[in-house]
Amino acid sequence: NIAGGRQTRGSRGKTVTGTLALSVFTAVLGSLQFGYNIGVINAPQKIIERDYNATWLHRYDAPIPQSTLTSLWSLSVAIFSVGGMLSSFTVGFLSEWLGRRKAMLVNNLLAFIGGGMMGMSKISRSFEMMILGRFIIGAYCGLASGLVPMYVGEISPTSLRGALGTLHQLAIVTGILVAQILGLDSLLGSQELWPVLLGVTVLPTVLQMALLPFCPESPRYLYIIRCQEHHAKSGLRRLTGRQEVGDTLAEMKEEKRRMDMERKVSIAELFRSPLYRQPIIIAILLQLSQQLSGINAIFYYSTSIFQKAGVQSPVYATIGAGFVNCAFTVLSLFLVERTGRRTLHMLGLAGMCVSAVVMTVALSLLPSSLMVAIFGFVAFFEVGPGPIPWFFVAELFSQGPRPAAMAVAGCSNWTANFIVGMAFQYIAELCGPYVFLIFAALLLFFLLFTFFKVPETRGKTFDQISAGFQRSVARTDMDLDPDLGKASTELEYLGEANLS
Ligand code: GLC
Repeated sequence: NIAGGRQTRGSRGKTVTGTLALSVFTAVLGSLQFGYNIGVINAPQKIIERDYNATWLHRYDAPIPQSTLTSLWSLSVAIFSVGGMLSSFTVGFLSEWLGRRKAMLVNNLLAFIGGGMMGMSKISRSFEMMILGRFIIGAYCGLASGLVPMYVGEISPTSLRGALGTLHQLAIVTGILVAQILGLDSLLGSQELWPVLLGVTVLPTVLQMALLPFCPESPRYLYIIRCQEHHAKSGLRRLTGRQEVGDTLAEMKEEKRRMDMERKVSIAELFRSPLYRQPIIIAILLQLSQQLSGINAIFYYSTSIFQKAGVQSPVYATIGAGFVNCAFTVLSLFLVERTGRRTLHMLGLAGMCVSAVVMTVALSLLPSSLMVAIFGFVAFFEVGPGPIPWFFVAELFSQGPRPAAMAVAGCSNWTANFIVGMAFQYIAELCGPYVFLIFAALLLFFLLFTFFKVPETRGKTFDQISAGFQRSVARTDMDLDPDLGKASTELEYLGEANLS
């Protein structure tokens, strides 16, 4: 019986112990930096450009040509996602080799180097240092965007996996907001202080390094990958606050038994094996739905969009969007274990689609309603498409294929992020006020995809989720009507919940 099953699991698994809270908090300090470095580059553009010009003048005795300045600035912004794209691909390898916790610890080196270089670039009179620093901090964020959801997903009890997984996104949006506020010219966004604004990203790094030694390594990693039952058990005891952890261990044993029967899962294998093809396509499309929704067209360019539409204080309007962003992530945190991932994701995509159409009307006919439309767009994003794809990927796969899947999904996310960041301004120039209709069409496509293909994972163990896909493959193999097989994916998952 579903209700009975959930209740038992719920009442046993809903305790957030001190160790669990500390471990999740420590991990998401990485997400905080991710968000901070997304948001930090928006406000101080003009003043940093002035310093690029000063450096050029100092070196070549002539002011910098406008086209060179534009290229240098675009590069400084976009190289962040290139760093993320490249490093996210190594998440699988690093997290298996070093373990989740040590990989996060070592990753902090990149934050130190990247933050340090950006902070020192002004006194060193070197925009090369700034650009390289952005690349390195981007690489840090790429790793964090895979390691954090993986670690949090693995240490969370089943009944809280979605809520705790959403904290990754909550930390990202908090980071964006903090950066937007500190970037005000009355705070750190001034000609003298911008290096501090970019350099303070090392503070959460120090805190994370100090706290990580007190957090247990993921027991799933220890037991299933490293075969260290004793260490896994003691980690589980600390995380759950219970002496008796036999049930969770039994579930991990089952997952390990299945994994031992499989070959090692490489990235190529994810696409080749019929067992993983369906979940990896879902994982990639969910990540694309997050980025190709157009959210970063807002977070990278909102100030200039507001400015062009004649909004009075564009910087404050951007900060307003940051607040809406945080508020609705908190809402999603409370809804995700009640309403489920699939419903929230669809609600978010549908709301964004409508908001994108309203934005188009606002941009072409009614500029006064633009702010409301953009706030609506951001709010619906955080209901589903913001937080859900990040932790959903970790849920779709069992221990064996998870690291490779996180790498592929993360890399798709960063690539799409890069494309939107680079292309938006050019396409906006071409399409004028109609640019958001492109996102509306994409959002509609992702909405349909989610409706037809994405299963619900709430309340299920990793093993039950992957068994669901195995059953769906087995049924297709039995030559059932393929269309029927597709449409029944969701039903099958409900059946799965019944079994539990
Ligand atoms: C998500 C996206 C990121 C975006 C942010 C906005 O975390 O991955 O690219 O900037 O949400 O809140």
